[in-house]
Amino acid sequence: MNNYIKNIYKSINFPFIDIEYHTFLPSTNSYLKEIANNRKEGLIIIADGQTAGKGRFNRTFFSPDNSGIYMSILLKPKNKGFNSTFITTAAAVAVAKACEELSGKEAQIKWVNDVLINNKKVCGILTEGCINPKSGIPEYVILGIGINAFTPKNGFDAEIKDIAGSVFCENSLSLKSMLTAKVINYFFEYYLNLEEKRFLTEYKNKSVITGKDVLVYKNNSVVSAKAISIDDEFRLLVEYENGSREFLSSGEVSIKLA
Ligand code: BTN
Repeated sequence: MNNYIKNIYKSINFPFIDIEYHTFLPSTNSYLKEIANNRKEGLIIIADGQTAGKGRFNRTFFSPDNSGIYMSILLKPKNKGFNSTFITTAAAVAVAKACEELSGKEAQIKWVNDVLINNKKVCGILTEGCINPKSGIPEYVILGIGINAFTPKNGFDAEIKDIAGSVFCENSLSLKSMLTAKVINYFFEYYLNLEEKRFLTEYKNKSVITGKDVLVYKNNSVVSAKAISIDDEFRLLVEYENGSREFLSSGEVSIKLA
């Protein structure tokens, strides 16, 4: 076991967590999906780099080695009524708080799953699940978290260089371990009491788009709107230019600041 993983184990508060480390994987989410059925809740796959990191809406996630934290957490929620948006939003708050505590910089959340520092995206979250069609209970849920801990040695790819940022200025393995462990600790604290939504107020307070003009991407169309608020189910209330209002759910739309 390398020092990065040893230090994470030293700082995590949950004894059922088991970490499997890889230097490179195509995607930690795709790898975990292949083995999920035979493994226990709390397994975490961590890779130093990914060659085919996946983002939402079939986008790729830039995952160069040694600069980011790429991890996928295996969850096996027991209840039918579980809500995958709660898992994504709990993770967003966990990442934002961990980044703030260790970097001293304010972190904000761009609905629904991006964490920003100084208006640059430092983290993306991709939650994927497999629901049993008969029982309606998930077989498993995979929570994938990608954090740009440091600036990659060759910089960010051209397409994202204006929107991506990193959490820390200096490249330090101990900061990377501490950040990984804090994210895991905050996330499981919320997840083990998911229905209580202890992260709701912080999620709302950290929202960067509330009150702002946004572009709503939905069904191949783009519409201008104002983001009004986020409700207790983490839906985004928007008001279109004609005055009509709509609650947006996370799976169906993507939002950009106008
Ligand atoms: C997004 O911003 O659209 C979501 C990005 C999620 C990236 C993480 S990195 C670890 C895990 N493995 C993947 O292939 N994707 C997620």
